[in-house]
Amino acid sequence: MKIGFFDSGIGGLTVLKKVINNFGNHKYYYLGDSLNVPYGSKPISFLLSNVEKIFLFFDSLNVDILISACNTTDSIIKKNNFNLDNFNFKYVSLIENVVKNVHKNDSVLLLATENTVKLGVYRELLKAKGVTKYEEKACPLFVPLIEEGYWYGQMADSILRFYLRDYKSKYKKVILGCTHYPILEKQIKKYTNSLILDPADGIINFLEEEVQLSKNSGDIKVNYYITGNVEKFESLSKAFMFDVSYKPFFSKLNLTKIKSREKNFVDIRQ
Ligand code: DGL
Repeated sequence: MKIGFFDSGIGGLTVLKKVINNFGNHKYYYLGDSLNVPYGSKPISFLLSNVEKIFLFFDSLNVDILISACNTTDSIIKKNNFNLDNFNFKYVSLIENVVKNVHKNDSVLLLATENTVKLGVYRELLKAKGVTKYEEKACPLFVPLIEEGYWYGQMADSILRFYLRDYKSKYKKVILGCTHYPILEKQIKKYTNSLILDPADGIINFLEEEVQLSKNSGDIKVNYYITGNVEKFESLSKAFMFDVSYKPFFSKLNLTKIKSREKNFVDIRQ
């Protein structure tokens, strides 16, 4: 199957990595919109027109499935009733799938971007489930920290402490509501002492149960399309995907040129 992923940067790799580890060889396409990172604090109107271009791009690649590897965009899509019928692929939502692992009596802390918190899609879905002990916290410094490659060490630790020092054992479950945050999962676990919910696991369940995606052997290849600095993305992705045996191909993408699903350049080397 042809499977697409997108995010503002390297965060979506936390989803891609789990999909590769679970399902092996499929045709994978990853759009890293690092020119526009961080999405978490950009105006919603800009992100909404940007996501339209991203979807047209994936439609032109003829993907079968498009996985939102970005909670912020998933929130925008849901909040604005974005018309998914205009596209030929099946869109898979991170948020819908992670909330399946939350139960009425759970106490829950959501860590997410400012836009995800503001848009309140998690809030509404959890309220509808009857969850009453719920708090949300935006952690806007996590994304730039990770995009600069500092996901360990002193700098990471002082930012983690700044956001999470009051949350030790306060909530039963913590949702990592931004795909960058699982890169800090061990440290977040240490600070909160809670059960960590990574939305990528919800995606794996969905692909297994609803899509019945096959588990394939053979060489794994990923085509990366990067809107910002390709070399920087390449080196960060290598650091994060160091334990994945696969062949990555990197190319530059100019999203502003995309106006329709026709005639988008497609650089597919597989
Ligand atoms: N990783 C994305 C998310 O899940 C976007 C983070 C950002 O660019 O601010 O929300």
